[in-house]
Amino acid sequence: MKSSTAIRDVPTLKKIFPNIFGQPLLRVTKKHNKNTKKHRVIGVILSGGPAPGGHNVIAGLFDALKKASKTSHLIGFKNGPGGLVRNDFLRIDSKLVDKYRNTGGFDIIGSGRTKIETAKQFSSTLKTVQKHKLDALVVIGGDDSNTNAVLLAEYFVQHDCKTQVIGIPKTIDGDLKNNYIETSFGFDTAVKTYSELIGNIARDANSSKKYWHFIRLMGRSASHITLECALQTQPNATIISEEVLSKKQSLQRIVNYLTDIVAKRSKKGMDFGVVLIPEGLIEFIPEIKNLINSLNDILSSAGTAKTFDGRQQQALKSLSAPLRKTFQSLPENIQKQLLLDRDDHGNVQVTLIETERMLIEMVAVELKKRKSFQGKFTGQSHFFGYEARCAFPSNFDSNYCYALGFNAFILIADNCTGYISTIKNLHLHPSKWQPYGIPLTMLMNIEKRKGKDSPVIKKALVETKSPAYKYFLKNRSSWETETSYIFPGSIQYDGDMKLIHSTTKTLALEKRS
Ligand code: FBP
Repeated sequence: MKSSTAIRDVPTLKKIFPNIFGQPLLRVTKKHNKNTKKHRVIGVILSGGPAPGGHNVIAGLFDALKKASKTSHLIGFKNGPGGLVRNDFLRIDSKLVDKYRNTGGFDIIGSGRTKIETAKQFSSTLKTVQKHKLDALVVIGGDDSNTNAVLLAEYFVQHDCKTQVIGIPKTIDGDLKNNYIETSFGFDTAVKTYSELIGNIARDANSSKKYWHFIRLMGRSASHITLECALQTQPNATIISEEVLSKKQSLQRIVNYLTDIVAKRSKKGMDFGVVLIPEGLIEFIPEIKNLINSLNDILSSAGTAKTFDGRQQQALKSLSAPLRKTFQSLPENIQKQLLLDRDDHGNVQVTLIETERMLIEMVAVELKKRKSFQGKFTGQSHFFGYEARCAFPSNFDSNYCYALGFNAFILIADNCTGYISTIKNLHLHPSKWQPYGIPLTMLMNIEKRKGKDSPVIKKALVETKSPAYKYFLKNRSSWETETSYIFPGSIQYDGDMKLIHSTTKTLALEKRS
């Protein structure tokens, strides 16, 4: 079988993963489903933010495990990787699984964002898996959690520990995708739930005709959610962070773009509209990106002040003159939000930065400067994030997750470690789906994390050459001035087969091209 490679940095990755680098890609067929009868103990963790369908991954894994051998059992480590480090666990039995099948959320065992990175955490994890004599550990998570999974896989081999590690691609953000992973689970349900809400707001805008709704959508750095929601609802303006970065657009340029649309619509008698903003936008505006990088350094230094005033003073003292000017030009609430603590991975918590309010304020200021503007502008701000992460999974996510969990067991039975369970042909009916096992190292490269070169799974941002983005570009100018909203309504679980098995527009466009 052909050995695999990586996105880049092959020699460095080979050194970091001497035992598991280069394993072959596996197209899972019936022949891989043979060594299943053995008694096994498998552990599972849910890692990071919830995503609809996680419970079905556990159900698929549990059913496959029990189907193979009734004496086998599944252990769930509580509240994410931290549970693994602390050996905090519960036994997952059929009563528990049945209670959670086809439900949203991660509450069956809880989730968490602990990053396993210190030598102590690695050795505690090893102790836990040895204590339980785990045959395998399944890590349900996004890019960071799967990076942790592959590091654990290598660490276990190096320490003569037989526990295999299998990852599952999870995240509503949709940024764990590549040539091998068509989409992460949860994205489908999340975008359908947000699109229903956006459609409702668009209909209110079109009924009341007096508000401009600025809606920020979760997705962390990537704009996949925002782009897909734009395709599903056709709002008047959509900002795509990746475009802002590639065109090096300044904050003022974004404000001018939005103000132009408000003014154009007003001229046509429409003092209302809908704007979509990706959660991570602030980090993609070049001058603010530089500011954030500098603030990260300032805030990571010893003796960081605890209060806003103290941090503000520290920032003003330490920032370079141009960055200080940028910082001071921002509304005070945004300054405050930029000075909040970073997360465990050293990232700014973009969820807490109210870019939608900032843009409303700035557009209002810009409109005041324009003598030609005779209309009215009243902004309403919204942030849609937690509304969708635990929604009942769509049929797509329910089936997809069950298949991912079941396939994880087949990979375990085939003695794989350091693999991620994936399914191809997701745009087709589930009966035509094709399971695979992908070596996680294939998805990796070296990037700077907390100032250090680190092996990581590459995050997929929106590509400006992607079919979904091209479709958006072709249509956005007509959506700006015409009112062509689509009101998708709620997720369909039953009825017309075409409707209930529909995937996202992003996937459909990718498969058409
Ligand atoms: P994951 O990357 O862990 O899947 O989480 C996604 C996400 O929902 C992002 O969209 C959002 O920025 C973040 O989690 C919010 O995190 P928290 O749950 O810590 O508020």
